[in-house]
Parts: sequence; C-alpha cells; structure tokens
Amino acid sequence: MERAVADLAHAALVQSALVNAAAPAPVDFAGPAPAISLERAADIAQREALLDLAFGRAARLAKTSERLREGRMPADGLAFAAHGADGRVVGTLRMWHVTAGPARPALLLGPLAVHPWFRDRGLGKAMMVTAINEATRLGHGAILLVGDAPYYARFGFERGLTDGLWLPGAFERARFLGLELRSGALKGARGLVSPTGDFLAAPSLSELIARESVPAALKRSA
Ligand SMILES: CC(C)(COP(=O)(O)OP(=O)(O)OC[C@H]1O[C@@H](n2cnc3c(N)ncnc32)[C@H](O)[C@@H]1OP(=O)(O)O)[C@@H](O)C(=O)NCCC(=O)NCCS
Repeated sequence: MERAVADLAHAALVQSALVNAAAPAPVDFAGPAPAISLERAADIAQREALLDLAFGRAARLAKTSERLREGRMPADGLAFAAHGADGRVVGTLRMWHVTAGPARPALLLGPLAVHPWFRDRGLGKAMMVTAINEATRLGHGAILLVGDAPYYARFGFERGLTDGLWLPGAFERARFLGLELRSGALKGARGLVSPTGDFLAAPSLSELIARESVPAALKRSA
C-alpha cells in the first residue's frame, strides 16, 4: 500500500518534471559550468526525470542497489545536484547509509547521472570528487557502488575490496566496487550489505483516504 502511494506520488512528480522538461532550451556550452550544490527539495522532480532519461525508469527501479535505497533517506549532506545556467537539474549524485556486513558502516554511492547534453565535460568527475571529499570530511570510512569499473577506477574504486560482500539480489561481481576513505575500513568486510539510513516518512492513513476520496467526490458532483 505504501509502495503504491509512493509510486503515485513519484509518477505525479515525474509527470510535472517531464512537462517542464519537454522542450528544453538550447544549451550554451560556452556558458558557465553547471554549479554543484546540496540537493534541495525543489530539485527532486527534475532529478527523477533525469534518472528516467539516463537509465529508463523500469530498469533503474529493478536494480539490486535500489533495494538498498528504496524507502530510505539519502545520507545527510551527501545528496548533490548540478544546475545548469537556467537552473535546471543536469546532474545528480546521492550517497546512502549501509552496513557492509555486520557492524561496518559504509556509504553506497548512486545513482550518478549527467544529462546527455552535459556529458564529457568533466561534470561527472566534479560531482564524484565533491562527493568523495565531502564524505571524507564528514568522517565516513568507505564507499561502495555498483557501476562501470573503467569509469570509477579513476576515483580509486576497486573490485577487490568487495570480495567478501553480497548485495540483496542479483549483481555482477565485476561491477561491485569499493573505496576506502580511511585505510582498512573495508578490510575483512564479510556479509550482506544492508540499508541503515533513516526511513522516508510514510503518509498518514487519513492522507491516503483523502487522496482516494477526492476523485470519487468530483465524479459524484459532475
Ligand atoms: C557516467 C556519467 C555520469 C559520466 O558523466 P560525464 O560528466 O560525462 O563524465 P566526465 O566528463 O567526468 O568524464 C568523461 C570520461 O568518462 C568516460 N566515461 C563516461 N562513461 C563511462 C563509462 N560508463 N565507462 C567508462 N568510461 C566512461 C568518458 O569516455 C570520458 O573519458 P575521457 O576522460 O577519457 O575522455 C554519464 O555518462 C552518465 O550520466 N551516463 C548515464 C548514466 C550512467 O551510466 N551512470 C553511471 C552508472 S555506472
């Protein structure tokens, strides 16, 4: 039930973002580089639309790493958005609290996406460097992710650090990577990676009933 409501809310958000994004203005590539900042509530609908564009909605929600994110809040101070000169969200990167086997706090990074018009200009790198530096500054010890090793290797992510870890679903070992921010933070890590972040607030029962009854009431009065 919670899931269905979350899906409806998501669909509405994406719908409005897609309407706004339907006819994007031409980009001036010579203009200022997109600015990276902490994600704001107002970015969320455009972020969802960007992720749908980058990965496809069904495909991205089917990912095993999504099982570690659904229903959770991203880690405090570690959700970033890049805005183009016109204010649109053109890049997104979030990190999430997990445990890498029992009692071993870590972060899960992802998804990372850059709008196709802004790719190959260093924005993905700038977002990765910003996120890694900030995670280090906040005292986190390690980051995990599932992604293309040739891309993430440039930031120090390695395959060997996750040998003793499993994700809660199907995954490709070659794409399951780790980075130690503190030396030895993943040494001997063994077990299931599980989510530990705060839960997203669920809507109250009265809210759900109110949402359901509005269309019915409108129908009756029509
Ligand atoms: C991956 C992504 C975030 C990179 O963003 P970006 O802003 O284009 O990246 P940068 O400009 O910092 O880096 C570009 C470099 O990364 C390389 N690169 C981009 N995607 C890559 C990939 N999937 N695998 C290996 N290398 C990749 C480019 O070839 C380029 O290489 P160069 O520096 O040798 O020329 C962006 O392509 C994207 O959003 N892709 C779709 C979503 C996605 O795949 N997300 C990552 C999940 S693994």
